[in-house]
Amino acid sequence: MFVNRRAELKILHSAYESLKRGEKVNVAIIGPRRIGKTELLLKFKEEVNGVVPYLNLQRIGSLESFIFAYTRELLYEIAKVVGMSIERSDLLTWDDLLILSAKLDLEREVKAIRDGTLETLFEMQEAILEKTGQKAVFILDEFQEVVNFKGFLETMRAVTEKQRNIAYFISGSAVRMMEEILAPKNPFFGQFKRVYLRGLPKEDTIELAKTTLERAGIEATHSALELIYKLTQGHPFYVLALCRRLIEEGFEKVKSRDVYYAFLTELLSEKGDIYMHLEYLFNESLSRAYKGPIHKQILLILAQEEGLRLSEIARRLNKPSGEVSNYLKFLLRTDLILKQGERYYFTDKLMRFWLAKTYLGITELELRRERFLEELVRELEEKYLKAKKELGIAKEAMIRERMREIFDIDFKPYRRGDVEFDGVAFRDGVYVLEIKWRNRPATYKDVKDFIRKVKGEFGSATMFFFSRSGFTEKAKELCEKEGVKMLTPKDLGIS
Ligand SMILES: Nc1ncnc2c1ncn2[C@@H]1O[C@H](COP(=O)(O)OP(=O)(O)O)[C@@H](O)[C@H]1O
Ligand SMILES: [Mg+2]
Repeated sequence: MFVNRRAELKILHSAYESLKRGEKVNVAIIGPRRIGKTELLLKFKEEVNGVVPYLNLQRIGSLESFIFAYTRELLYEIAKVVGMSIERSDLLTWDDLLILSAKLDLEREVKAIRDGTLETLFEMQEAILEKTGQKAVFILDEFQEVVNFKGFLETMRAVTEKQRNIAYFISGSAVRMMEEILAPKNPFFGQFKRVYLRGLPKEDTIELAKTTLERAGIEATHSALELIYKLTQGHPFYVLALCRRLIEEGFEKVKSRDVYYAFLTELLSEKGDIYMHLEYLFNESLSRAYKGPIHKQILLILAQEEGLRLSEIARRLNKPSGEVSNYLKFLLRTDLILKQGERYYFTDKLMRFWLAKTYLGITELELRRERFLEELVRELEEKYLKAKKELGIAKEAMIRERMREIFDIDFKPYRRGDVEFDGVAFRDGVYVLEIKWRNRPATYKDVKDFIRKVKGEFGSATMFFFSRSGFTEKAKELCEKEGVKMLTPKDLGIS
């Protein structure tokens, strides 16, 4: 069952339409593990008729096998589109591909690929598409893996920039994608429209949970469903794991209390899918950051107390700031923590809770103890899910919501390294939203800083500036001069 992702699917479809009109748009789907990147890309593939090869790079070990698998998927898709009946399982060797290519009158091109380099592959791909009159979208899932192939990005960039018959939809995790592939210093900067994938909205989360439970013959109260959303924050994998646990536990009518119990079991006992996922993520992330006891120690400190500064962490570790700064740099290159201003936070609140609790070695028996369960629930809700900085964010969320309703622009919070925006939307171009919720009018300087930040990050963009208390005269003039659209609560029908 697939829910929502309407805005994201719209972006993918419109990129596909642009390609067919001769204007290539590449898209990068960026988000944490198991948030639904693959599901989204496959949904798009399912919805279109055309040459849309799909490759998951995580399953590919070497450049040679990449070239083979890439060619195979491309030919397979072309064969399908021209109405040939063919099984993927018949395409296991280069000889199999050559037989197929002969039928497609592409033998010369495929031979060249077999005997050539990565560059040959991309060049021949264009020739093949030209010859067959096809426009293709190649989906490269877990694209970040290509950084393991030396020189891949440079080669791909140099060749694909000129290509007109193919667009790429890629997926990857936030940090590696942004730092290693799409950052300004790297070859692909500016080549991809970025789409950030987050948890599902409330209604869709509830629909997913409700349907999943109903299929197993289980009913759930409305407050239980609301609670599922609150605890999982709409993360589809967490939702499904929690539902599976509820089904396995054999409830007939699920109430809030059962949800708490099932969720904590999923999260904190070793048999839980969420537990296993977090453990995997934790170990995998740390192995990239040169796993060391200090890195773990820092994470444990932050699990207990978030939002610490470098100096505070150094003090707790009893180590010089310079040294700790290096550890933190490594940790920031995992997707585990992020830096906001001068402070460090966990990216995933549940990861934080999991870490804090599992290091204490909670057992299943304890989870069955009513009092203990209640304590954990209270702590989870009060300390972990309700992070302080979110209080101010509620207003921003409301404004983004109104922007979506009124202008049909789906703004999402944006962060890349130190650069942050209250809302960014990618459509035919970039849209950026600034929100000032203050008791005094926005000033010339506020507007000027915003424009400078937008230009630095995106070059050009359509800019919206929301100010709760209006604008000074000089700010208004600047907005008009620079084409910044001014918004006040009245424009959005809020007070
Ligand atoms: N839109 C959705 N509707 C329903 N289930 C979803 C949706 N997106 C993801 N899921 C489920 O969540 C899990 C993780 O999704 P997946 O696409 O594999 O994540 P990713 O590729 O980001 O790691 C899968 O079990 C998938 O079925
Ligand atoms: Mg995936």
